[in-house]
Amino acid sequence: MNIVIGSDHRGFHVRSKISELLARLGHTVQDVGTFSPEACDYPDIAAQVSKIVGSGKAERGILICGTGLGMCIAANKFPGVRAAPCHDDVTAEMSRRHNDANILCLPADLLGERLIDGMIELWLNTPFNGGRHQRRLERIQHLEQDAGKCPG
Ligand code: RB5
Repeated sequence: MNIVIGSDHRGFHVRSKISELLARLGHTVQDVGTFSPEACDYPDIAAQVSKIVGSGKAERGILICGTGLGMCIAANKFPGVRAAPCHDDVTAEMSRRHNDANILCLPADLLGERLIDGMIELWLNTPFNGGRHQRRLERIQHLEQDAGKCPG
């Protein structure tokens, strides 16, 4: 799978470990940074990953910040992105089964390495259930199109 990954300074150390895991699992990884532990603004990184996933140039994305929340809020501004903030196996699995999440947002400050590694494998291997959930995603797509038409 083609996977694009990015983090702010809070996710800097976790990101390199995740990239290594993804490579070990046989995935192709595109890393958009941040490339130093200096403080940076997470929306800039979220934008890079989200444009790549939203345009279909990567199948999945992974974003890491302190809580996973800022990255998720920013990522979901981009068309075609379904970013999910996950903090355990259940949220990781359900974000795939019901929401067909294409970007996983992780909290570097809150979770240990073993939990994160397990969540990532689960998230990458869990299929979308489709069916009634597909209809709901189509509704979200309409919301996205309608929001684009809102004035100002
Ligand atoms: C950075 O201080 C922090 O706000 C960021 O990593 C993230 O947790 C935002 O949601």
